[in-house]
Amino acid sequence: MKRDFLALSQFDKPELDALFSLTKELKTKQKSGEQQHLLNGKSVALIFEKSSTRTRISFEVGVYQLGGQPLFISSGTSQMGRGEPIKDTARTIARYCDGVMIRTYGQEIVEEFAAYAAVPIINGLTDKFHPCQIMADIFTVMEHKGRYDGLTYAWVGDGNNMANTWIEAAAIFGFELRLACPKGYEPAQDVLAWAKGKGARLLLTTDPKEAVSGADVVNTDVWASMGQEAEQKEREKAFSGYCLDDALVGLARPDCLVLHCLPAHRGEEITESVIEGKNSVVWDEAENRLHVQKAIMASLIK
Ligand code: CP
Ligand code: NVA
Repeated sequence: MKRDFLALSQFDKPELDALFSLTKELKTKQKSGEQQHLLNGKSVALIFEKSSTRTRISFEVGVYQLGGQPLFISSGTSQMGRGEPIKDTARTIARYCDGVMIRTYGQEIVEEFAAYAAVPIINGLTDKFHPCQIMADIFTVMEHKGRYDGLTYAWVGDGNNMANTWIEAAAIFGFELRLACPKGYEPAQDVLAWAKGKGARLLLTTDPKEAVSGADVVNTDVWASMGQEAEQKEREKAFSGYCLDDALVGLARPDCLVLHCLPAHRGEEITESVIEGKNSVVWDEAENRLHVQKAIMASLIK
């Protein structure tokens, strides 16, 4: 039976812990120059319906490092952009390729793709979730803190795909997550309900100070995600007071980690001095996309 990677909620803690162990092994081997051709002779399609820097490059390089062939496919230059149905694209690509990563809009698109493709499908970001990113984020926390549990995580900003995925992670891993989101920009209700049903330790507030005070990990993201560009101005108003600046980070633990999935808008959701400051681990976080995704691909694509 093939296994997809569409949302963290499809996995349990031991399975995700196993991915972290493999990530560590692959990263160590990569750094020592040891080859790890776990995708030898395999082709992996990388489909993008939205822009990307990190996801595209880390998947392309990751497939190459694993001895496979990455295929970059943009919706604009394929028949997807001309309206070929997802289910037809999915079945066609699965006849050529051994796995597919897709970055798109609705979560239902990756679900439909996975339902019709006979090969593993990996979610490279939808409007609802960004599971590869949160795996890289937690792995980065483990590297810097030696563990992910027993820590308090704060989210400041939009209740977006990143926030939704952090909520799933909090439910699965059992850590405390505090989210400060403006009224009207809360995370998805169904994700919150699912997490609460699993006993997740969540605090939802409109006060960034309440979320950040004493936190070990402080995380934010852009106020207008891809596809929401037209809302930029109204979002800037709604998110006033939600900028991760030195005063706000000063309420967290002195040794807190600052995460941002990038790209960042300095002066909006985060200041130059915080993203470039001593608590920021954003470049390790970006690098770890590569290592985590190699582990995901090596585990799923057989
Ligand atoms: N964090 C992230 O997914 O970056 P890209 O949009 O550049 O891929
Ligand atoms: N929330 C952002 C994340 C970008 C990596 C977006 O969806 O645009």
